[in-house]
Amino acid sequence: MKVIKTISEMRRWRRANRGTVALVPTMGFLHEGHLSLIRKAKSHAQQTVVSIYVNPTQFAPGEDLDKYPRDIERDEALCRAEGVDVVFYPSNEEMYPAGHKTYVVTEDLSGILCGKSRPTHFRGVTTIVAKLFNIVQPDSAVFGQKDAQQALIINRMNEDLNFGVHIIIASIVRETDGLAMSSRNKYLSGQHRTEAAVLYQSLQMARREFESGKRDFETLKNKMQRHILHNSSAKIDYIEYRDAETLAPVQTDTKKILFLLAAYFGKTRLIDNIILK
Ligand code: PAF
Repeated sequence: MKVIKTISEMRRWRRANRGTVALVPTMGFLHEGHLSLIRKAKSHAQQTVVSIYVNPTQFAPGEDLDKYPRDIERDEALCRAEGVDVVFYPSNEEMYPAGHKTYVVTEDLSGILCGKSRPTHFRGVTTIVAKLFNIVQPDSAVFGQKDAQQALIINRMNEDLNFGVHIIIASIVRETDGLAMSSRNKYLSGQHRTEAAVLYQSLQMARREFESGKRDFETLKNKMQRHILHNSSAKIDYIEYRDAETLAPVQTDTKKILFLLAAYFGKTRLIDNIILK
């Protein structure tokens, strides 16, 4: 496995490797969820590149950029064990040299749901993913369904800017109590970690009601909200239901409904979602 730290070397490697390449963009501190993305990537291409970069432009001032967990030695060992071909591990100077002025924005989709409480977040995500696509030139790229809005925005950007990358979305990997795996789970105190299971419980509750024929989504949403508030100290950022393909409001002919939520446990903001068909 090669560890590449510069854009010029990454480009040289890509030019020398004519086979198919799948990219797994990450911010490191890898967990089982990331490993499932890597396994998916390996099944889609001859070579797998994992990028590890805590992207400053997707964090607003006052967010957790400085304390975001990092452990590059462990990440490299995990990637090696999974048979990754290249870890791309650039520095901030490499990715955002002095004078950097260009950003990629996917309008409308970036300003709703998570974009309401994190107004500059998705601009940072689309910018770094566009840069990674340009640098690595992958045939395919794998993202997690946990970040459902991010996945839809990246798909849109990929279409709109004609990157031609095959975007693969991998299912959410969960802890045994249902909590979606996330590097940010590490921030949770013991009590908050126990309480955080309410998020998936509330989504499961929505699934059960939906499967028993209930279609009053406002009532479902209120039930979810009550479950979370009665069983934890969480502060809900939002609970919403949208068209799973467009994030548009649900209409009578909507085929797949995405129930998605964000909530704070102390200072830690967690997100989760399910698709109801
Ligand atoms: O999902 C993430 O970890 C990040 O948003 C991504 C896609 C690696 C961009 O920094």
